[in-house]
Amino acid sequence: MKIMTPQNGCVWITGASSGIGAALAAELAERGWAVAISARRASDLQNVAAQHDNIHSFVCDVTDRAAMAQTVSDIETKLGPIALGVMNAGIYLPTALPAFDASLFDRTFEVNLNGTVNGLAALVPLMVARGEGHISLISSVAGYGGLVTSAAYGASKAALFNMGESMAMDLKPSGVHISMVAPGFVKTPATDVNEFPMPFIIDADEAARRIADGLAKNKTHISFPRRFSYLLRVLNMLPRATYVKLAGRFMSR
Ligand SMILES: NC(=O)c1ccc[n+]([C@@H]2O[C@H](COP(=O)([O-])OP(=O)(O)OC[C@H]3O[C@@H](n4cnc5c(N)ncnc54)[C@H](OP(=O)(O)O)[C@@H]3O)[C@@H](O)[C@H]2O)c1
Repeated sequence: MKIMTPQNGCVWITGASSGIGAALAAELAERGWAVAISARRASDLQNVAAQHDNIHSFVCDVTDRAAMAQTVSDIETKLGPIALGVMNAGIYLPTALPAFDASLFDRTFEVNLNGTVNGLAALVPLMVARGEGHISLISSVAGYGGLVTSAAYGASKAALFNMGESMAMDLKPSGVHISMVAPGFVKTPATDVNEFPMPFIIDADEAARRIADGLAKNKTHISFPRRFSYLLRVLNMLPRATYVKLAGRFMSR
């Protein structure tokens, strides 16, 4: 599969007004990419874009499918073909069980899953027609298996893995590469609210370097930090009942 470089077009990163998306925008701009960033908060996007001549902001809510299609069209008019799309916009709403709130699930799936689908709906036909392109879905190690407070978040991220793996198989003949990113804990506004222990937490710049390195190698699965990711993957190889017991204990420490 052809590796996308700045010579093939620009990169579009959703959810880049803060955290991992903002750091990735700066990292890819440093690596020579023309970077389009989108999110809802216009002033935060402007601040990210002000860091580098090569970053351009587009206000867009991922839950609005028509607006996502229009944003892709606006980006391509301004910067040329999108060679790399990073579907990063996401929210983490902790589930406070036993109090069950269905709206937490609705909101989480709306942004993390349907928002990603809206990006794919806009990008896939264009890339298939061009016979090349790379779309990366920012999932999470929380998508490997259930974790405390993650009933809604983890389910949305597991869905991204399943969807992305399926699409990677189906799109291979068309020349479009689909990859998935599974970060462990990264220090961002999203995790600053967490009151539970966050083992092996890294900063957003480090996460951005790891993602950019993986994208540049066309890796299908980019996961970090390695120790945490391997630990969770090993736990996930255990019988499920054992996994639930051990993962629950590990995260509650
Ligand atoms: N931090 C971690 O430990 C960690 C670990 C694994 C995976 N992740 C994933 O990494 C991604 C980035 O998270 P982060 O930690 O960097 O959090 P963050 O700083 O809160 O960033 C989330 C981004 O998503 C955008 N967003 C949220 N709802 C949106 C919507 N409806 N439309 C458009 N943009 C929207 C936000 O922008 P606006 O509010 O301006 O719209 C913001 O730019 C998420 O998918 C998250 O699940 C994070």
